[in-house]
Amino acid sequence: MRILLVASEAFPIVKTGGLADVVGALPRGLAAHGVTARLLLPAYRGTAERVAVDRTGSIALGDLLGVGHASLLPFEHADAGLRGWLLECPALFDRPGGPYLDERGHDHHDNHLRFGLLSRTAALLATMEGLTGFAVDVVHSHDWQAGLVSAYFEAFGGRRPSTVFTAHNLHFAGRFDASVLPEVGLPASMQRVVGVELWGSMSFLKAGLFFADRITTVSPTYAREIQTEAGGEGLHGLLHTRREALSGILNGIDDQAWNPARDAALAQTYDAGDSLLAGKAACKADLQRQLGLDLTPAAPMVGMVGRLTGQKGVDLLLSALPQLLSTGGQLAVLGSGEPALQLALHSAAAHHPGRVAFVQGYDEALSHRLIAGVDLLAVPSRFEPCGLTQMYAQRYGTPPIVRRTGGLADTVLDADAHPDAGTGFSFEAPSTDSLLDALMRAVSCYRDRPRLQAVQRRAMSLTRGWTKAAKPYAELYRDLLGVGSRTV
Ligand code: ADP
Ligand code: GLC
Repeated sequence: MRILLVASEAFPIVKTGGLADVVGALPRGLAAHGVTARLLLPAYRGTAERVAVDRTGSIALGDLLGVGHASLLPFEHADAGLRGWLLECPALFDRPGGPYLDERGHDHHDNHLRFGLLSRTAALLATMEGLTGFAVDVVHSHDWQAGLVSAYFEAFGGRRPSTVFTAHNLHFAGRFDASVLPEVGLPASMQRVVGVELWGSMSFLKAGLFFADRITTVSPTYAREIQTEAGGEGLHGLLHTRREALSGILNGIDDQAWNPARDAALAQTYDAGDSLLAGKAACKADLQRQLGLDLTPAAPMVGMVGRLTGQKGVDLLLSALPQLLSTGGQLAVLGSGEPALQLALHSAAAHHPGRVAFVQGYDEALSHRLIAGVDLLAVPSRFEPCGLTQMYAQRYGTPPIVRRTGGLADTVLDADAHPDAGTGFSFEAPSTDSLLDALMRAVSCYRDRPRLQAVQRRAMSLTRGWTKAAKPYAELYRDLLGVGSRTV
């Protein structure tokens, strides 16, 4: 079975968040189930230098959207087990800034063209086996950036592979004025409720959810939540109607990149055995030193890593800060995002030197050191399709404190509610009081060493690798292919 994965990021080639972790690790997981996956990724500035490329195998695509010539450049990243094609289109991708934002932090003005071209190219690649030697059975698109693939198949007709669309986060709908439809080469007639229309705009996300043969999202609980008005971001009606085509497949984690026994970023490696206590203590001291926090071994140290947006609930954590500090605790946050939240974190750090540290920015190695070094990891998200940091924390013996929503509800069992099976702490309401209750329960567990170690060892023994986690995807593809390659 041959799958074309289409996405805007894949770790370790290009990453801004969890999407990259999933897309970068899924191919190795699928390989264990007899599925060959190739990736299609945009060649942003610098991307081609991070992989091995085969310039002689480059395939010219011409000027598909009238914005500049594009080509497909075969690539391989042997260490990560990734192969596929980079979509080169210098006019759209060779520029400063990140995958989505320009240097000033604004959306690239032509994101509809950049990601329209990504989808257009995927639709083409999937029917170019003569040139690529890769006959695609299923095109599996991820998030709005790859949302138009099945809309192009719909518009152009003819033989096509089966299509799967995975929504990693419904909050990002890829909405643009309906006037962009002709610009991306789609008929204006698609701008209707039974099409790509969403609140008067066109939406790349809606296109994926509407036209793909199957829809998946990244946890069973999120798959249920998005069928409700409260969680559906305006798409609950469509998702409920398409519920037979929708499934929630829980993300796995890359258990090679995230392995405390072999993690080169850590001051001292450890596993769930005898090395746990000393290893965690060494990582904590190292983190405190690096972040300029008081070198207090017994201070309950709470951490958080992530995008600083309303979704992640860092404001709840900040309102719980006084109580955390009153127990003698410390807080360490790594992240970047909304200016107001960054400011609030800088201000908390300035007011509590030695007790609160905030590192603004993106730092892969520090994220490993932080997750290993803190005693408890907070993930107080208002909503969370899956969430990865709580699973990394569990693998590193750092009990997570999570709100019971989306994938957080599916991955963390509360240690008070489930004394023999708990692997963290969870709370229900998106409020400071509710978070505080879980936080204080977690701090008392932290102070009860035998109990803490039982929770840590249980969490560390969970098997969350992609070899296991990719199986439902392999089954979904097989199921789809049983239906046969369809003609529109
Ligand atoms: P989301 O995809 O919504 O941002 P996830 O929990 O699924 O949330 O994934 C976030 C990923 O990005 C994790 O691998 C996390 O460690 C990483 N990450 C987020 N912010 C940072 C940061 N500032 N520095 C390093 N890694 C980060
Ligand atoms: C999204 C979600 C996050 C999920 C990640 C990977 O960015 O916000 O919950 O873990 O995608 O699927």
